[in-house]
Amino acid sequence: MAGRRHNTSSNRGLDGTVPPPEVDLSTPSIARSYDYILGGKEHFEVDRRITDAIYAAVPETGQIAKDNRNLLRRATRYLVGEAGIRQIIDLGSGLPTVGNVHEIAHSVDPGVRVVYVDNDPIVLAHGRALLSEENTTTVITADVRDPGSIFDNPAVTEFIDFDEPFAVMAVSILHHLTDDDAYATAEALKKQLTEGSYLLISNFLDDDEPRAKDLEKAFLEGGLGSGRFRTWAELRRFYEGLEMVEPGLVYGNDWRPDRLTLTDSPVHTLYAAGMGRK
Ligand SMILES: C[S@@+](CC[C@H](N)C(=O)[O-])C[C@H]1O[C@@H](n2cnc3c(N)ncnc32)[C@H](O)[C@@H]1O
Repeated sequence: MAGRRHNTSSNRGLDGTVPPPEVDLSTPSIARSYDYILGGKEHFEVDRRITDAIYAAVPETGQIAKDNRNLLRRATRYLVGEAGIRQIIDLGSGLPTVGNVHEIAHSVDPGVRVVYVDNDPIVLAHGRALLSEENTTTVITADVRDPGSIFDNPAVTEFIDFDEPFAVMAVSILHHLTDDDAYATAEALKKQLTEGSYLLISNFLDDDEPRAKDLEKAFLEGGLGSGRFRTWAELRRFYEGLEMVEPGLVYGNDWRPDRLTLTDSPVHTLYAAGMGRK
C-alpha cells in the first residue's frame, strides 16, 4: 500500500518542499490524503495522521484509490477512443499523479481538451506547473456544489464548446458531499450536459458488508468529515434521466475491465461506477 509507511512528522512535503501559503496545514485535505494513499509527495502530517486512522479501520482501503485510478483510465479511453468525445471536464480531479486524464486522452488523440476542477488550492498550484506547456489542458479552482462557477467560468467557456458533446467526470468526489449536496450537484450537472454528452460517476458503495460501515465511520468521524458509502438504490438516483452506457452501474472493476484491471481486488465490493449519456 503505497504511501502508508511514510513516517515523518514534518510539515514539508516528502520531497522537502514547503507548502504554498494558501495551503491550510491545520486541517486534513482530501486531495493530499488521496495523494498519500497513491504514493505521491504532496501530503503533510495532518493528512497522514487521518489517513493512517482509515487504514487502521480497513487495511486494504488504499486499493480502492488504485482501482479507481484504473477505472478513470478505462473510462477516458472509452470516451475518447470509442465514444468520440473531444472535451472533458474532470471534477474533483485531485493532485496530478501518474496517468492523469489529459495524458490518457492525448495518448489516443492529442487534440482532446481537458479542464481540471478542484476546490483545493494545492491542486491548482501543482496543476499549473504541470500544465504550463499545454494548450489543450487547463485547471481551475471551483466548488462542484456551485456549477455556475465552473460552467460560466471564462477559463472553461474558452476551452469547452458547450454546443458540442463533452464528458463530465465525477470520479470519487460525490461521496465527499452530503446527500443533499450530492444529489443537487448531480442534477445540476445533468442539466448542463449537451445532448450526446456523458457523465461518469464513481462512489464508495454500501453493499451491505461490515467493512463499508467501518470505513464510513472512519472517514466521517476520523477527521476528514466526508466519505459516504451509498447503496445501489442511492447511487442509481445520480443517473436518472440518462441512458446508461453498458454495462450500467456496476462494481468499479466490472466496468469495462481490461487486462490491467484486477479481477480479484480485495475491495471489489466497496465501490461502484457507472456512465450515463444524455
Ligand atoms: C478522492 S479525490 C479523487 C481524485 C480523482 N477524481 C480520482 O478519482 O482519482 C477527491 C477530490 O475531490 C476534491 N473535492 C472534494 N470536494 C470538492 C468540492 N466540493 N468541489 C471540488 N472539488 C472537491 C478533493 O479536493 C479531491 O481532490
